[in-house]
Amino acid sequence: MSATPDYSVLDGKRLLLIISGGIAAYKCLELIRRLRERGVRVRAVLTQAAQQFVTPLSVAALSEEKVYTDLFSLTDESEMGHIRLSREADLVVVAPASADILARMAAGMANDLATTALLATDKPVLVVPAMNVMMWTNPATQANVRILEQRGIRRLGPAAGDMACGEVGSGRMVEPMEIVAAIAAFFAGQSASKPLAGRRAVVTSGPTHEPIDPVRYIANRSSGKQGHAVAAALAALGADVTLVSGPVTLADPMGVRVVRVETAAEMLAASQGALPADIAVCAAAVADWRVAAAAGDKVKKGPDGPPTLTLAENPDILATLAQAGPARPRLVVGFAAETRDVLAYAAAKLAKKGCDWIVANDVATGTGTFGGDDNQVHLLRRGAAPEAPLIETWPRLSKTEVAARLAQAIADTLSPPIALSTSNNNPEPV
Ligand code: CTP
Repeated sequence: MSATPDYSVLDGKRLLLIISGGIAAYKCLELIRRLRERGVRVRAVLTQAAQQFVTPLSVAALSEEKVYTDLFSLTDESEMGHIRLSREADLVVVAPASADILARMAAGMANDLATTALLATDKPVLVVPAMNVMMWTNPATQANVRILEQRGIRRLGPAAGDMACGEVGSGRMVEPMEIVAAIAAFFAGQSASKPLAGRRAVVTSGPTHEPIDPVRYIANRSSGKQGHAVAAALAALGADVTLVSGPVTLADPMGVRVVRVETAAEMLAASQGALPADIAVCAAAVADWRVAAAAGDKVKKGPDGPPTLTLAENPDILATLAQAGPARPRLVVGFAAETRDVLAYAAAKLAKKGCDWIVANDVATGTGTFGGDDNQVHLLRRGAAPEAPLIETWPRLSKTEVAARLAQAIADTLSPPIALSTSNNNPEPV
């Protein structure tokens, strides 16, 4: 997440922070500090394992609240029962959420104060997993996470990167400030109106990987930041979002269904599988070509010199969705990544692909757009004639702000804030 969210929504909010065991538990001290700075009242529960990594005293000092550790504490029960503890919060956050606590939550266990509070709560719950990569990818953990998500529990991360155990991969806890931003986004979403409630959206994001052989592939520099931010922004406005993501190292955005794919063909199938939808936003940097016949075995060096790769054109996902006949989403938005003549090329793409809008950006070397946190875009909307689009130029913004503006523009178009008479059967304007 790269934008500065509106942290003012945090002021006065009450959080129950459940800290479970794991090396990432120490980061909770920073999390508590950042939340307190923004006016959040934090009550913390530490599991027994968490106390091996962080002391109740340091958590109490930073939260300026009593810290709870024991299910059967007579003094705690007389002051604040575990039921009240779990109810007197606007949001329950489990960070770090270990494999163990996720398993116990999924099984509905209540064998310590943390899981008892989680079982007893009537408040939204956000889990922020952190564990070794093998533990995270273990089918048991994945099954537990799916169960929790089906029950409406929100999840942030884990992120990919170097881990304390020396391994590399997905399992790192999302950084404290990103957790604060996600919590702010949650409360902002709760308080804002949801103009896209009841709308379904499919968003493509990230690069695609096109195999050459089992170990090599063709790829590009897309980070997925812009597409993921669009998915999060649409979800924040109430849309039911399916994010079809190529291989990226970003954490899954909150409240979004994520389908992970590798190739353009898989991305197309997953995008079509997410139909019917009201909105399609194709932000992925789809590889234009794949190797026509990827080798089944690793291509070896030989006396004949380097191999010749014969390429075949990939399906155009944006054009396919835009020309999907009755299954066409009502609003189809593409991106145009150009290194020169941005507006002219973008206008040509708008006409050629049959979409409604194009978000055009300059990705020339030096703009820092690919992989960066900012973006400067033009929004082209189909005008009376395909070659004469209506153009809006936006200032340089963070990718999250570009996403928020785009989501708002989509909401204004699909769900204009004017009261339509209930007898109005005309199709909504695009
Ligand atoms: N796109 C797509 N499927 C493809 C290629 C592109 O869905 N096989 C979408 C992108 O997600 C983006 C838009 O089409 O929304 C434009 O992508 P871009 O890479 O700018 O253009 P291309 O169509 O690939 O054309 P070119 O490479 O010639 O600029």
